[in-house]
Amino acid sequence: MYCIKKTTNDLTWVGANDRRLAMFEGVYSVPGGVSYNSYLLMDEKTVLFDTVDKAVQRRFLENVASALDGRQLDYLVIQHMEPDHSAAIEDILVRYPKVKLVCNAKTRDFINQFTGLNIDAHIVKENDTLNTGRHTLHFVMAPMVHWPEVMVTYDSTDKILFSADAFGTFGALNGALFADEVDFNKDYMDEARRYYSNIVGKYGNQVQALLKKAGALDIKIICPLHGFVWRENLSSLISKYILWSAYQPEENGVMIAYASVYGNTENAAEILACQLREKGIKTVMFDVSVTPASEIIAAAFRWSHLVFASTTYNAGIFVSMEALLDDLVAHNIQNRTVAVIENGSWAATSGGLIREKLGKCKNINFIEQTVSIKSSVNKAQVSELEAVANAIESTFPRSAKNAGDNKESKDGKAASIDTNAMFKLSYGLFVLTAKDGSKDNGCIINTATQITASPLRISIAVNKANFTHDMIVKTGEFNLSVLSESAPFSIFEQFGFHTGRDTDKFASYGNNERTANGIRYIVEHANSIISAKVSESYDYGSHTVFMADVTQSFVLSNEPSVTYQYYFDNIKPKPQPPQEGKKGYVCKICGYVFEGSSLPDDFICPLCKHGSADFEML
Ligand code: FEO
Repeated sequence: MYCIKKTTNDLTWVGANDRRLAMFEGVYSVPGGVSYNSYLLMDEKTVLFDTVDKAVQRRFLENVASALDGRQLDYLVIQHMEPDHSAAIEDILVRYPKVKLVCNAKTRDFINQFTGLNIDAHIVKENDTLNTGRHTLHFVMAPMVHWPEVMVTYDSTDKILFSADAFGTFGALNGALFADEVDFNKDYMDEARRYYSNIVGKYGNQVQALLKKAGALDIKIICPLHGFVWRENLSSLISKYILWSAYQPEENGVMIAYASVYGNTENAAEILACQLREKGIKTVMFDVSVTPASEIIAAAFRWSHLVFASTTYNAGIFVSMEALLDDLVAHNIQNRTVAVIENGSWAATSGGLIREKLGKCKNINFIEQTVSIKSSVNKAQVSELEAVANAIESTFPRSAKNAGDNKESKDGKAASIDTNAMFKLSYGLFVLTAKDGSKDNGCIINTATQITASPLRISIAVNKANFTHDMIVKTGEFNLSVLSESAPFSIFEQFGFHTGRDTDKFASYGNNERTANGIRYIVEHANSIISAKVSESYDYGSHTVFMADVTQSFVLSNEPSVTYQYYFDNIKPKPQPPQEGKKGYVCKICGYVFEGSSLPDDFICPLCKHGSADFEML
């Protein structure tokens, strides 16, 4: 019996799940199964996007027949010829002999290679379109994401990106179809990372090329070939792709992978992990003989620091460690700090060989000292491990450690955090603007800093609750209008107190122009304008920090820039005294009053988006 899911009014998921597969591609365990997604568009013409793996062929064919509901299939768009998506092409041709295949020239070659059939096809290339009635499909080439023939398709009518392997996830769908139906971050992000890093991790440049093309499209829904469909909070996965494809770590912390025959190398790794934890540094550990390599590869893409500890075996690196390192090098791991521990009872060689292998990767910062164990850890080597821990610690930003949290200080007093200290920092205030397709938007931020002069680079931190944040994640570009002291409160209301998701903030704000990147800036009450292009981004929970190269900048006036303090003292209206007898909390940032006897810990100010820590009792 068919099992299909409505995706949009015109689009139906006709894929299937496989929970019996032991090893995806013969290499990657999939304990949660895997989905093979295919989508049927019902327009004046009917269009099927890709097929499925042979394991689920029968269910798929039932699904297609059911969704077609008696209609003919007009087009089969083949975006990717890997057999997990193309196994049913011949069945489709037999059942729907009038169907026209739509693919690029490379795909046609692959069809012939796989099937031996010289099939007639409608060949498309970059930016070609196909009109199916109400919908127009745009074809975008995405070579090496994950094979050379891969292309993606953009439906400009419903703003859907059919993304082929990109944005896929291991794991069967289990009745859901949309990522917002599950707790994706908790239950699936690890599998999305494992899928990305192992399947397309090697091809970061090509993924970035696709992200750049996708950034120019107005995308509301992403339909990948594996895993969930994305219709909400697309930026949560796109921001990961920006990091992964640039080989930038997601988190500061140390991944320790060890290969140990009799437990002594493991012992050294454990001691180092304890020493690092003492310093407040996050650690994760893997025994490479036990944990599947795909999980360790994924962890290496996640963490900033990597430690490899291996015994010497047959005068080389221990077999499982050697295989892991070769895998990591093949997956192009870059931009990491690496420390090495070796063990050898008579002729330790593994440390030097590990360095040699990883030395082939770009931008690996080796901790100078290799700790060399002779059979088992002795006291002197505990000190050597401590020296490595210290060297690792010295490369960590202070904020990445939790050493200060609730720890006893030297004089015995508990260290505490007074968030009022944050208000003593000097901040400017800025209108941050972005443009996504025809949509313009802006918000107020107080965190913009010049990082370097050459190249001229700035950083901004943006609350993820802001729609402008999502637009920057998607497009990678923004403008800063540096507000001056003449800025009236109405500007803060206009850009800070509403969401741009359902309003056009510029519709009632005429004093604006566009810079060369096409993004709006405000003309009055700003003393300078800076346009920038995002080079890196970092996920810090509630906020994303964007590093960006300045692409244009100019001065509008010499009026002093407004500071946060000036805003509080001179611009922000003073909160009205509460009505007699009313209980509640007032936001120290914008004056919003929450009425009630207790403020929930996770409360977010609906006006300025600050959390409960910025409220005080009336
Ligand atoms: Fe799921 Fe590259 O195929």
